[in-house]
Amino acid sequence: MAAARQVLVISGAGVSAESGIPTFRDAMQGLWSRYKPEDLATPAAFARQPEVVWQWYQWRRRLVVDAQPNPGHRALAGLQDCLPGMLLVTQNVDGLHQRAGSKDVIELHGNLFENQCSASDCRHMAPNTDLEATTPPLCPSCGALMRPGVVWFGEGLPEAALARARQAASGCQLLLSVGTSAVVYPAADLAWMVKRTGAVLVEINPETTPLTAVADFVFPGPAGEILPAILRALCPEPSDGAHT
Ligand code: OAD
Repeated sequence: MAAARQVLVISGAGVSAESGIPTFRDAMQGLWSRYKPEDLATPAAFARQPEVVWQWYQWRRRLVVDAQPNPGHRALAGLQDCLPGMLLVTQNVDGLHQRAGSKDVIELHGNLFENQCSASDCRHMAPNTDLEATTPPLCPSCGALMRPGVVWFGEGLPEAALARARQAASGCQLLLSVGTSAVVYPAADLAWMVKRTGAVLVEINPETTPLTAVADFVFPGPAGEILPAILRALCPEPSDGAHT
């Protein structure tokens, strides 16, 4: 990792698990346990019952606002400071990488705190300002309902973000896949692209994934422990003690 000119890190929901944010597949708790994410995170679900989908996202937003970045997020920010060729691509929509100090984070699945107009010929974007509203706001540009600015099942990824991630994957010497089940495409494809170029594939995940068998190095543990250990091994301790 220290020798690689370009390092690509792909993070998933597992990195935020230690901040108390349930992974996508564990997300249906309490009031929401009778739903499946696949039944709520779709354009069809929003068209059918916009209030229900909106309220689920409002609940998830409040959960994230009350959470804090964990040592895994902070270690990734520290690694970026000492490895200038490192790029962080995330499937997470919670913004915890940015709150931990990571810069230039490529968000493949959008951001929970943005809203986007649901009208396909408008797509106006605006920050979400009200965490308590129980109905979606109206688009200031065209009057249609605003929806959370995240990628839903069956939708394409933001083109510019995906293009940057693919370019980074084709040029990196090492890809670190952390906290992702590596089953959601096209994000999961980046690791296979890297594998085909002959670059080194490293995985951090307490569970096995489709990548585990082909990875060159596997750390089968929590990101909040493994990432700080990698940071300590690779990067000299900064004077502000940020490694701890
Ligand atoms: P998943 O919920 O599919 O997988 C989370 C992964 O994190 C699992 O493989 C866990 O084993 C692992 N994990 C759990 N705790 C961990 C820890 N402490 N340290 C490291 N790993 C841990 O989440 P993603 O792979 O991010 O897409 O899912 C990708 C996408 O699937 C999400 O972005 C979402 C969902 O459909 C959209 O919303 C478009």
